[in-house]
Amino acid sequence: MAYIENLALSRLARQCGLVISMAALTGALAAPVAYGGTTQPDTTLQVLHWWTSASERKAATLLAARLADEGVVWRDAGIPGGAGIGAGKVLKSRVLANDAPEVTQIIGVSIKEWADLGFLLELDKVASTNKWNTVFFPTIQNLIQHRKHVVAAPLGIHRTNTLFYNRKIFTSLKLSPPESWDELVVVAARLKAAGVIPLAQSSEPWQVATLFENLILAESGPDYHRELFVKQNAQAVSDKRFVQALERLRQMKGWMNNPVDERVWPEVVRQFARNEAAMMITGDWVKGELNEGGFATDEAFSCTAMPGTARYHLYSVDTFSMFTNDYSRVAAQEKLARLVATPAVQAEYNAVKGSVSVRRDADPAKMDSCARASWTTFAQGAAVQAPSLVHRMATDETSKDAIIAVIHRYFIDGNVSIAETQAKLAAMYRAFSSNRKTNQ
Ligand code: BGC
Repeated sequence: MAYIENLALSRLARQCGLVISMAALTGALAAPVAYGGTTQPDTTLQVLHWWTSASERKAATLLAARLADEGVVWRDAGIPGGAGIGAGKVLKSRVLANDAPEVTQIIGVSIKEWADLGFLLELDKVASTNKWNTVFFPTIQNLIQHRKHVVAAPLGIHRTNTLFYNRKIFTSLKLSPPESWDELVVVAARLKAAGVIPLAQSSEPWQVATLFENLILAESGPDYHRELFVKQNAQAVSDKRFVQALERLRQMKGWMNNPVDERVWPEVVRQFARNEAAMMITGDWVKGELNEGGFATDEAFSCTAMPGTARYHLYSVDTFSMFTNDYSRVAAQEKLARLVATPAVQAEYNAVKGSVSVRRDADPAKMDSCARASWTTFAQGAAVQAPSLVHRMATDETSKDAIIAVIHRYFIDGNVSIAETQAKLAAMYRAFSSNRKTNQ
């Protein structure tokens, strides 16, 4: 067992670019466990996640309270950084130090990466007792499974192709929410003419890439989005739809703050909430944040889909995976897994978080207009669903970061041409594909 763990740790160390000897690992494994069963009761679970904004904290607190009702203590380890950019790194270093938290927000393809290393607790018993194979949407079931074992518990589905618009500004300028690219261009021009910043946006790489994948989806739909970000087909990069999305990304830069500064996403939400920008295109965690800030849905703001994507759902699904560690917390870990997927917690948690239920038996009549549109669209199945690149639904961590970096560079530096960006990405896709063949 220890030998297998050592192998997994050394593989992880290589992935992190660390050189680590077997002897060092043996030492690490022999070191006392930070939250070992002797010092903490078995009913305490440390939960590592990246929910640090006001609404995210409220959602986490709600889960902690429900868990406390069942006699389990939630020990919070929130790591700042939107889209988990900080939490992913912290998790890797903690696992390497043999200090894995009992519960972690691991999402999308990352679940399989961690499960492959052999670290994750199998939740098959919880899944079968609670009929997870029938109550969740099929996409959710696929996401939480690895080699026919359930290794994650789902929390909620975020829609990352959401356009938020400020109702006060739109009403005073007699604007209607745009439904197509052409309408969006007209709305942006009218806003600019009135002295209003059309789009609240940050230049943080993941926030730029979120906008870009929205543009890709709007140009083409889920199939092409998958060609590009799941299959990473080098030929798809030379497609004219890719060129057009890049052109539009640069055009949109003219609708943002000048310069577009690098701000965390809650800061961008505050700009929008202060009526200092008329629209935001991103995930519906923003809705949770606006609601928590006292702005009710369909009063101060409303949401619609990114123009051209009304039929589609660009999703990011939140999930918790459990690290086995010394197996001393399995009962508490299973309690948490079961609890988060119950109808009551799903309804309560998702209303705060801005996401929607992973369950097919949720009641859309009890949701607000944004959530209802999200849930009913997602419910239509895989043909309308696109797995978000930025939120790890499409590909592994390393490829995701590399793709985001190329898009970000193009966005930031006006001297980088479309042709250069295409060449870089196509070369990268060819390299990924030959690496995969070598590793098979
Ligand atoms: C997660 C959300 C989170 C958002 C912003 C996404 O990857 O799915 O739960 O609110 O990132 O950090």
